[in-house]
Amino acid sequence: MKNTKVSDRLLTVPASPIRKLVPFAVEAKKKGIKVYHLNIGDPDIKTPEVMINVLKKWTTNPIAYGQSQGQPKFLESLASYYNKLRYSFVKTNHIQVTTGGSEAISMALFSVCAKGEEVIAFEPYYANYNSYAAINGVKIVPVLTKGETGFHLPSRVEIEKKISKKTKAILICNPSNPTGTVYTKDEMEMLVSISVENNLFLISDEVYREFVYDGKKYFSILEFMKKYPDKMILLDSLSKRYSLCGARLGMIVSLNRDLTDGVLRMAQGRLSSGFVDQAMAEKLTEVKDSYFASVHKEYQTRRDVLYKGLKSIKGVYLEKPEGAFYTIVKLPVKDSEDFCQWLLTDFRYKNETVMVAPAAGFYGTKGRGKDEVRIAYVLNINDLKKAIEILRRALVEYNG
Ligand SMILES: Cc1ncc(COP(=O)(O)O)c(C=O)c1O
Repeated sequence: MKNTKVSDRLLTVPASPIRKLVPFAVEAKKKGIKVYHLNIGDPDIKTPEVMINVLKKWTTNPIAYGQSQGQPKFLESLASYYNKLRYSFVKTNHIQVTTGGSEAISMALFSVCAKGEEVIAFEPYYANYNSYAAINGVKIVPVLTKGETGFHLPSRVEIEKKISKKTKAILICNPSNPTGTVYTKDEMEMLVSISVENNLFLISDEVYREFVYDGKKYFSILEFMKKYPDKMILLDSLSKRYSLCGARLGMIVSLNRDLTDGVLRMAQGRLSSGFVDQAMAEKLTEVKDSYFASVHKEYQTRRDVLYKGLKSIKGVYLEKPEGAFYTIVKLPVKDSEDFCQWLLTDFRYKNETVMVAPAAGFYGTKGRGKDEVRIAYVLNINDLKKAIEILRRALVEYNG
């Protein structure tokens, strides 16, 4: 009998560099080894109590579908969140609720590109952009950014070199996962100017908006949306902001009517995002500023502990991350994927090890990032210190 074959395009969807070593971590844990997870940005901070209380007091039965655009009360809460950030022009009809920021990425790529068209992104970039590009038949054209410059943008000339007849958009992540870079006002203005002059969409993934350190000023795409309503697209998510990763809620915000109308039609095709999730998340207007203040303080301290600890390891190179809760770190190894796997399969210190993500999967160009890893600082300070110590000892042993 003939083998029934899956599609060629399915084979183009890459494995997530963040999750692909998970089976080795599972095996290690089965053997009773403690694994410190620095590989994935799943925050350990508690979800706000006002949201959890909705679940505790839940009585609605049955749990029905919601509306395709999003639940009206949730949409109102989101609009008031943006208004509080002083973007009072954002109204509920500019917002499409998505099932996680992940769906927002996928819908945005589908919306701006025909099959085979191109989006420029700055590598290293969020690895799942590759997955969603593959799923939607979009080609990501990478522009290199470098550790030595804190992964800030190259010159306008370097960026414009990559624009072709097929380019439809520039996709940025600000603050950046995986680099922790926060783009300056000048950088944002340059990107806006490139997008306007070349008639491109500028898509900004701002799921880490609140995570900007050292009092650095942050420039959202929302600053430019009113002036260029057809071109600016914001991708957003509640996952990190309110420690709601499992609630699966994100959004697309745009003043481009063709875009929001089309996205709504796609959203109708998948019926609705989670009804319970939205009921919980609509309480975001009741989350006190002190919640963010303490979360922010905690992450900035973690960033400092991680930076200081890693800097003190021989052969390790990194610049101080400015935002989000990730950093790309150069290690004294030739093949970081081999090292990351070895950490899980062979190395133990006091019966513990760490899991980090090999960085190659965050690059669009083959061969890049082979001596780098991405580290997520989502552990409490005590565990983070232990994980750094394990990494220090592991590098000594790995390099013989
Ligand atoms: C840059 C970036 N965008 C989008 C997402 C998707 O988040 P979610 O689907 O949980 O909203 C993530 C998750 O880690 C991310 O890091």
